Amino acid sequence: MRPWYNRLPQTAIEAAMPVRKPNFSPPFNVVRASHVELAVRDLGRSRAFYVDCLGYMISAEEPGALYLRAVEERNHHSIVLREAKAATAVTLGFKVASEDDLDRAADWFARKNLPTAFPKVPHQGRTLRTADINGMPLEFYFTMDQSARMLQRYATHQGARIQRIDHINCFTPDVQASYDFYNEMGFRLTEYTETDEPNGKLWAVWMHRKGNVHDIAFTNGRGPRLHHIGVWTAGPLDILHICDVMATSGYLPNMERGPDRHGISNAFFLYIRDPDGHRIELFTSDYLTVDPDLEPLRWSLTDPQRQTLWGHPAPKSWFEEGSEFISVPVRDPVLAAQPVVAR
Ligand SMILES: [Fe+2]
Repeated sequence: MRPWYNRLPQTAIEAAMPVRKPNFSPPFNVVRASHVELAVRDLGRSRAFYVDCLGYMISAEEPGALYLRAVEERNHHSIVLREAKAATAVTLGFKVASEDDLDRAADWFARKNLPTAFPKVPHQGRTLRTADINGMPLEFYFTMDQSARMLQRYATHQGARIQRIDHINCFTPDVQASYDFYNEMGFRLTEYTETDEPNGKLWAVWMHRKGNVHDIAFTNGRGPRLHHIGVWTAGPLDILHICDVMATSGYLPNMERGPDRHGISNAFFLYIRDPDGHRIELFTSDYLTVDPDLEPLRWSLTDPQRQTLWGHPAPKSWFEEGSEFISVPVRDPVLAAQPVVAR
């Protein structure tokens, strides 16, 4: 049995299908999604939410900035909150496998006429700042300051006992273009949503480097915008517990969707909004995707079990609201199709 991507001549696949052959020899080696930087309007209010409620640990508190990490993380930060006048997404961070990979990445982005710079970034080694084809700000680095190992200091774990960052999900105005770009970078497709017409169009894609369902996902919509960051909990009970905590500590309006189980990815989840509206997904229990011949799962845009296995449609806000990136123009999507929404 040949792998799924070799069952038809590659040229026929390229011509007839939106799904590409995975790139097993990428131009540089991305290890995983690593961190995000968010601009927030009131650091004290954000600290109360991320630290006191969700249980994030503070790695550094500096004038105008808060560096946070979750209990499993040895890296200095997976969320950087920076105080600003407007709430925006600032940058999306990825770890690469070596210093050489940073130089290969810089060459690759430069060949595509995309901006490249190596600014000094606190708590990180050499860091490449660039942008994808839609202008979404990206940064790549190899080394970051390391922090104390807290995983087995259970008595200190608070809130949702968040273990680590898992993924980044973005709105894109052109899912096919984003998919093609990240596929070339070596991100591999695990699941996708397609419209039902004879030549179906990609509506959303989930792509990974680290070996579970995704490091990055793209959803059709006004973009580029950050839809959410997904953070991993040890189990569904941590998510149920934070529901009780939020519902009784003034954060009930911040609970947007769930708890529930996704059809796509099989993950148990809860979507919440921080005090500035940035969306966080508490996420656990997806599956292993390291096999090179793992065939991506196709979902129909009209299948209600795609959004949630138990059939509940997502609210309208979930499909429409997201965090814009500073000074990055947002465009309407090329695809008009919309899924079923709850309200
Ligand atoms: Fe997610």
